[in-house]
Amino acid sequence: MTTAGKNEAVAFAPATVANLSVGFDVLGLALDGAGDTVRARRREEPGVVVLDILGDGGKLPRKADENTAGIAAIETLALAGVSWGVELVVEKGLPIGSGMGSSAASAAAGAFAVNGLLETPLSLEALIGPCLEAEAAVAGRHADNIAPALFGGLCMVQQIDPLRILHLPVPSELFVVVLTPHMELSSRKARSVLPKELPLHEAIQTNARMGALVYAMFQGDLEALAAAHAIDPVTAARAPLIPGSLQVIERAMSEGALFASISGAGPSVFAMTKGREAGERVAEGMKAAFAEAGLGSNVLISPAKSPGARLL
Ligand code: HSE
Repeated sequence: MTTAGKNEAVAFAPATVANLSVGFDVLGLALDGAGDTVRARRREEPGVVVLDILGDGGKLPRKADENTAGIAAIETLALAGVSWGVELVVEKGLPIGSGMGSSAASAAAGAFAVNGLLETPLSLEALIGPCLEAEAAVAGRHADNIAPALFGGLCMVQQIDPLRILHLPVPSELFVVVLTPHMELSSRKARSVLPKELPLHEAIQTNARMGALVYAMFQGDLEALAAAHAIDPVTAARAPLIPGSLQVIERAMSEGALFASISGAGPSVFAMTKGREAGERVAEGMKAAFAEAGLGSNVLISPAKSPGARLL
């Protein structure tokens, strides 16, 4: 796909790892090497039409107001206050229900592509709103995938109303390994098993680990990151939905990972390592552990600091 002036724009938005164990609905980081692409073409009639979706095996809704790229496009056009409409072609590079921010990547690429058609583009912060509407339609109203998909890097969504996003530093030697098992798990299902309340001591422990992770990122202190690893209450509640997930996390740690957990709502599991080489060793162990649970899996290894959405 190519970009041609203001009549057409093509945008890519990356896969993301949300939660990072300690930051449920709050932390997320962008990955390099996988994502969704949306081509937006201007048309004089108002409204949004999804012309085609490639790579989804026919699973996603083609109606623009039911599709995250479509909803984000509708909301971006409304925010910009223009009278014309767009036609979209969505190219899914990410598996659906994989825990790699598939719905957010489509939304971010959709909003970004439409933004690329505007005479005066909106800010990235402004695009969060349209993407949030899209995400809310399929996965719940949270921006921990959307923010890194748009901005890149490691983002903390302190609050969404009003929006406050903090951008955290990431040590350059830190890598992320993501194992995506061959099964689907919807965010909706993975959210339905979560406890409604947490005992105070569990909330305190999670807060303390969140502080340690943020400290580790600012200081580049990978030992502090390793000390922040534990199975959090959200991961414990979701693990039964993902065969072998706790064993995969355990294997990652025993192979030398610094930190590991379920990626987003799952079923992907991620680990953080010092350097790519360590990541490759950890990935092998994690793949073997998923295989022992009867699941094939795909591996992605990415720098922990990676770029967000961009025009192609
Ligand atoms: N924070 C979200 C969750 C990400 O864990 O449910 C996936 O939508």
